[in-house]
Amino acid sequence: MAIENVAHFEDSTDETTQLIQDSTQKAMMKANDPIQVGLLGIGTVGSGVFTVLQRNQQEIQRRAGRGIEITMVADLDTARAKGIVGNQVQVVADARAIIANPEIDIVIELIGGYGIAKQLVMEAIAAGKHVVTANKALLAVHGTEIFAAAHAKGVIVAFEAAVAGGIPIIKALREGLTANRIQWIAGIINGTTNFILSEMRDKGLDFGVVLKEAQRLGYAEADPTFDIEGVDAAHKATIMSAIAFGIPVQFDKAYVEGITKLGAADIRYAEQLGYRIKLLGITKRVDSGVELRVHPSLVPAKRLIANVEGAMNAVVVQGDAVGTTLYYGKGAGSEPTASAVIADLVDITRLHTADPEHRVPHLAFQPNSMSSLEVLPMDKVVTSYYLRLRVADQAGVLAKVTGILAEAGISIDAVIQREADQVGGEGSTQTDLIILTHDCVEAKMNVAIAQMQALPTVLDQITRIRKEELA
Ligand code: HSE
Repeated sequence: MAIENVAHFEDSTDETTQLIQDSTQKAMMKANDPIQVGLLGIGTVGSGVFTVLQRNQQEIQRRAGRGIEITMVADLDTARAKGIVGNQVQVVADARAIIANPEIDIVIELIGGYGIAKQLVMEAIAAGKHVVTANKALLAVHGTEIFAAAHAKGVIVAFEAAVAGGIPIIKALREGLTANRIQWIAGIINGTTNFILSEMRDKGLDFGVVLKEAQRLGYAEADPTFDIEGVDAAHKATIMSAIAFGIPVQFDKAYVEGITKLGAADIRYAEQLGYRIKLLGITKRVDSGVELRVHPSLVPAKRLIANVEGAMNAVVVQGDAVGTTLYYGKGAGSEPTASAVIADLVDITRLHTADPEHRVPHLAFQPNSMSSLEVLPMDKVVTSYYLRLRVADQAGVLAKVTGILAEAGISIDAVIQREADQVGGEGSTQTDLIILTHDCVEAKMNVAIAQMQALPTVLDQITRIRKEELA
């Protein structure tokens, strides 16, 4: 094969050699000009990208090796967009005008969602543009198709801003930790829910009350469904699972549970037992496959991640060589997210002229070396549990409940029973039974919970919160 290549090279005419020299010269001349960027959607993040690029342009140029300039912006509200970028930048309402412009090398997609954003990303790739996106939903659901199209076309789709905003967790997982066999990742990757949980703990308030306050203060969106139901965190966990384990993005296999059913009582009881409740995005390699799940979790209060408060994000990564590493910072907001978007712009600018086969693969592993490890259904996940049962305060109730757990082979770690007066007021005939278990498979716990729930002395829906020691 090598000999054929040499022969072919020796056969090339003077004319061919001249053409190669011309195009190399053109690429080198162009490489001294700023790389041109088109921005699709100039909202909170887009304006942050524009501001930070302008403010730090000299340092960014010194790092990237050439200037990076946003020369076109597409936004339906052209008047507002012009107000942000001024007269030096061409503002259009039609995003396709950017994709059609041969001078533009990189398209930043900040529209969000799976609809028009997906069409535009696919069109930009087809037009040979590199793409930078913060769109976690798009990548978690359609990433396989998007990365395949980008690979075929030899362009980069960069997405540092899609997971944990300003924290460079994609870079860390894909490059910094590349020597490691990653064992698990657990992250607080949704600031809205972490803010709500922090407020619930600080002020002893229930979820509904704090959500309203968070919306009033602008921490939670008018429609907070994706955040509070765990969907946003699951998008991010899905992307991290793919990079950590070399599996395709599989949002449809993620287990997703939000924080809407959590009560102030559970946060208080967890505290008394030495735990905090956090909404964690978890992905873990086990013998039989990969766990991918988002749900409220009890975390020992002594862990650093348990002390991440307010709207901050943090991700813990456990690798076999490095041990435990922790990444902390702002997971949303204009300039923190812009920081990640611009890091991608710099990466692309540096790699723009490099041979596509020698760039860092989109999902960390070479596309032909992906793993077929199965994402496990939730009933095969092994973890430990916090259970809260509202029970009649009578003789024998505790024995029946613990009997069911013993019968199922579920080992109890700790039990506390509140005084009835403290739970239901003076003269109350009800109380709360709180049980911590050791590890067991979820399927077993489902059966045990159904049996306990059927006891006439269990008076309300049993609360089950998974517990993660993160040791
Ligand atoms: N809504 C997200 C959060 C930020 O609250 O963290 C964007 O993913």
